[in-house]
Parts: sequence; C-alpha cells; structure tokens
Amino acid sequence: DRKQIVVFGSIVHDLISYTTRFPRPGESIRGKSFQQGAGGKGANQAVAAALLGARVSMIGKVGDDIFADFNLTSLKKAGVETAAVQRVAGSTTGTATITVSEEGGGENSIVVTLGANMEMSPETADGAEAVIAPGGILLCQAEIPDAATKRALEIGRKHGVTTFLNPAPGDPAMDQSMLAFVDIVCVNENEAEFITGIASPNPAEAEKAARAMLERGPRVAIITLGPQGCLLAEKDEGVITVSLLPGEKVAAVDTTGAGDCFCGSFVALLAAGIPLKEAAARSVKIASISVTKIGTQSSYSSRAELIAVGRGELVEGI
Ligand code: RIB
Ligand code: NA
Repeated sequence: DRKQIVVFGSIVHDLISYTTRFPRPGESIRGKSFQQGAGGKGANQAVAAALLGARVSMIGKVGDDIFADFNLTSLKKAGVETAAVQRVAGSTTGTATITVSEEGGGENSIVVTLGANMEMSPETADGAEAVIAPGGILLCQAEIPDAATKRALEIGRKHGVTTFLNPAPGDPAMDQSMLAFVDIVCVNENEAEFITGIASPNPAEAEKAARAMLERGPRVAIITLGPQGCLLAEKDEGVITVSLLPGEKVAAVDTTGAGDCFCGSFVALLAAGIPLKEAAARSVKIASISVTKIGTQSSYSSRAELIAVGRGELVEGI
C-alpha cells in the first residue's frame, strides 16, 4: 500500500574517530575516542524513517565479512524489512573511515569505500520491481552506481510511486538524466551547485538553485542549509511556492548523517500524510536533535524517544 517506504541504496559500516582537529596530509594525530556504527546513506535514511514509525523496506547489498551482520541487525532492530538485502559472496561491506573534529563544531571528513554497494545494478532494480511497485515513496541516494539508481527511479515512476532522490554525496559527474524520473529532489548547498552551477551562500541564492532544479523534472526541490534549516520550493500547476524553514540552535557534537536523518524523517512524515511544508519544518528539527549525539544511526531518535523528551509535536500524526 501507499504508506510503504522503499529505500534502494547503500549500506556502509562507519568507523568514526573523534579528534580535536583534522590531521594534515602525512601527519598522524591521536584520536580522543572511537565508535563504530551502522551507516551508509541508504540505511541511515531507512532507519531514520522506521524509528519514527514508518513502514520501510530496504533494497541493498552487503559483503560476507564481519560488518555485514552488524549492519543488517541495526536495520532490523529499527524495524526495517531486510528481505531484499543481499549478501554478496566474496565482496566487502561498504566502509566509511570518518574523522569528526571538535574544530568546526563536530564537522566530519569521510573516506567511503563502497564495496558491495557498487554491485547494485539496473538488474538489481529489475529484480526488486515487486518490492518497489507497491510502495508509496521510493528513496534513492548516490552511494551506488548511477545506472542502478536511474533504473530504480524509472521503475518507481512507472508504478506511480513518489520518487525521492538525495544525490549525496555530491558528484559533478552524476548522470543528471535520472532527474526526469524524480518527484522530490533533496540536496545540500554543494550538491545544489553541482547540479545547477549556482552556489548557495545565502537563502536568496539557494532559492535560485532550487528553481533551477525544478526545471530538470522534479516538482519539489529542497536545499538543506545546515544549522540554517532548509529551503523548500514546490511547483504546483506551474506556480512555484518557496518557504524557508529554520533549524534549531543546538550544541553540535557530530553532524555525520544529519542530512540522512532529515531525508528519512521527511519521507516518514509524508507517508503519514503530513503536508510537505509541515513535514520539512519538523524534519529540520528532528535532524537538529541528531547532531547533539554521536554516530549516524545511533544518533537518531525514535518516535517514543521524541515524545519522552517533550517533542511529541514533531511526530504527531504518524
Ligand atoms: O551521510 C552519512 C553517511 O555517509 C555515513 O553513515 C557514512 O557511511 C557515509 O557514507
Ligand atoms: Na549525529
């Protein structure tokens, strides 16, 4: 039924070192602490949505190494259906070697080695057509080959599924033809610039970039602006409405995966029937809460946790 969310994307094991500053090339520095956790943009978004109470299925690939089970367990624990996640014999689970530095307020730098995620192909999407077709919203990112993502979006469109693309991490060489099959595109400032050539140093420029993205196919364009929240541009019968939805001031310790938290929360709210603007406004706040905690999936709040800390208004109606 149309409340089902389907994620076609990446699963990555995160290896995070927390430091006071970033090392320079050739330099070795001491970390203050270390944490491993389940990550990857696809899995993160699936978990964020499921924790809020959405029904979510994940289509993805892991290797046959020690990281595979850890990541599958994290998905299952959050309530994500994993029957369409395949284990690839002889391959490695994706890994992200992440440094989170105190300088810059929990900013990160990441080396991601995609392993089994790169074996996602158009045939993988074809093989999962029965999972995608009955869904309400299909969620894709950019940590698997473009050809696979494009086919999944095409299948979603064919079956009347709302298609959501978060082309992250940004790659200037991305195959932009897939935007023709996208209903909602969600990017950060960098990714917006890769797609449109327009930098978004302020909300006025972000609006230009969002309008330019609406010319490529999507009817909704969202640009996340870090602590400033997000800009939402919506096209309805040729009329474009733009809203700026502010974030919340928080003490950030780890911003890794905040964008994924936004995307997952947003689709969970949409699937529950919450209107676009309200869903975006609440999602920037839910993502703000995630940056106050370390890790990616481990920093996301469940519906019950949000209610327990007095933020029940964020999940009302789910
Ligand atoms: O968006 C954050 C994610 O990107 C991390 O979990 C890491 O796996 C990287 O791929
Ligand atoms: Na976090």
